[in-house]
Amino acid sequence: MVTRREFLQHTFAGAGVLIFSGYGALSATAPTSSTDSRIEVLLGEPLETISPNIYGHFAENLGGVIYDGVWVGKNSRVANVDGIRKALIDDMRKIKAPVVRFPGGCFADSYNWRDGIGPADKRPRRTNFWETAESQLSPPSHKYDPNQIGTNEFVHFCQLIGSQPYLAANVRSLPAEQFYRWIEYCNSPAGSTTSADERAAAGYRDPFGVQFWGVGNESWGCGGNFTAQEYAVEFRRYTTWVPRWGQELLFIASGPNVDNWEWTRGFLEEIVRKGPEQLRRIYGMALHHYAWNLSRGRTQDWEKGKGDALNFDAVDWYELLREGERMEGLIEGHWHVMGEFDQQRHIKLVVDEWGPWYKPGSEATSGDILEQMPTLRDAVFSGMTLDIFNRHSDKVAMANCAQLINCLNSLYLAHEDKFVVTPVGQVFAMYAGHQGGQGVRTIFSAPVVTYQRDDRPATFWGLKGSASLHGKVLFLTVVNPDVGQPRETEIVIRGSAVKSAHGTVLTNRDIHAHNTFEQPNSVVPQTTDIKVAAPLAFTFPAASVSALRLDLS
Ligand code: AHR
Repeated sequence: MVTRREFLQHTFAGAGVLIFSGYGALSATAPTSSTDSRIEVLLGEPLETISPNIYGHFAENLGGVIYDGVWVGKNSRVANVDGIRKALIDDMRKIKAPVVRFPGGCFADSYNWRDGIGPADKRPRRTNFWETAESQLSPPSHKYDPNQIGTNEFVHFCQLIGSQPYLAANVRSLPAEQFYRWIEYCNSPAGSTTSADERAAAGYRDPFGVQFWGVGNESWGCGGNFTAQEYAVEFRRYTTWVPRWGQELLFIASGPNVDNWEWTRGFLEEIVRKGPEQLRRIYGMALHHYAWNLSRGRTQDWEKGKGDALNFDAVDWYELLREGERMEGLIEGHWHVMGEFDQQRHIKLVVDEWGPWYKPGSEATSGDILEQMPTLRDAVFSGMTLDIFNRHSDKVAMANCAQLINCLNSLYLAHEDKFVVTPVGQVFAMYAGHQGGQGVRTIFSAPVVTYQRDDRPATFWGLKGSASLHGKVLFLTVVNPDVGQPRETEIVIRGSAVKSAHGTVLTNRDIHAHNTFEQPNSVVPQTTDIKVAAPLAFTFPAASVSALRLDLS
């Protein structure tokens, strides 16, 4: 049997549960007879501000993500800005992309940032970490990194889309000295250091001001096979001194794989062995969770447990959501363990890899490893996950969907001059309105979904979502996971009246619906006005994600 941990340790070396069920439990009043569900937004019960960075992205040098996805080259016939795909820039501006993590993932711990600076035609070609996973069909740039997109080009990309860069540093195979040299290259003031001169010679006089720094990636696996204690020692060493020039640096520690509570505990235990003030070095602990096991409990094998991106039935649909739903318990569980050491709650969670992971076979471009076709199911999954992050805005400071383009839960698919926004990308556009809003407690009550899971009755919650306030505008997102039933819902806003309202809905009669290069508009949202009344009435279609904007008086 292959586990994910083993997969990541060996493959490349050699080759919350908060269920709102029923009406009575959480709702003060039952729905009226014409409705079956109810949402109550409690304006008087504010939560934390929703960090825009929860809507972050992840672009690893893996398969078709960087070469073909992001980078097409300056002389390409594909529309580009300084070598970067223009269609991608335009859409990422639209969705207000706040932060992008780069260059990995597992790739990060074999990357030498110096290979990606200096004149582009002099940069070396290096074996990509993912080379052994690549197929015969993969182009050479996927196996041997041509280093055409390095630090300068990546930061330039971030500047073009209005994002902050989040750089993942190599702890497995570069010394601590190279970590602070990379910071020096990015952030030292013009004219101050040789690194700043090198940056200026490349056309970037002003410091990049990179704030977010990952200290390794998955250090329990591909990032070095450390124990939690060993990694904590490395983390202390790498972060003990780095140059700052008044720039606040936010260090993100490699965190647990899924529910490995012992990693979180062991790491923090070792960190505080040198005193509780050591905690202040850590901005966030990374958490990774992929929904990959759709075997309905039959196996834990990393290969055998995976499902198909396109070929699935209703039970598989719920199975994916059940796997994704684990995110809530993971956030609560790791937060609880973190609190054993960090009573001041200085450290936040950074969920810098999340999304479904299916078996190969649905690639839009043959030869792109880990590329899969996102469907309406993945849109519903993504809406549900973003709502979980919003509801835990006191704990989650950043999240990065894995990955941005041509990989796993892609927002975009691209190949040469073809480009399409996936249903997941549509959800990010719909949810952008939450960024920076004041979270507000919201109660959802709806009949649970009931279905047969391998001849046993199973249930899944009926409606969930999240709400945020932006002055007099209330933004409410809602997921209806039921593949067959719309939810006739009354929406009560406690503490204000609604002046005007409209709703944007993403759904399709076919739960497998997806957007392709040939048919890019199969899954696109529709917006309608909502009749103002008290309470508001809204029908959340079966298998849908909705975003409601309510102007309050
Ligand atoms: O996103 C793909 C891979 O999944 C990343 O490189 C790694 O961090 C994770 O295991």
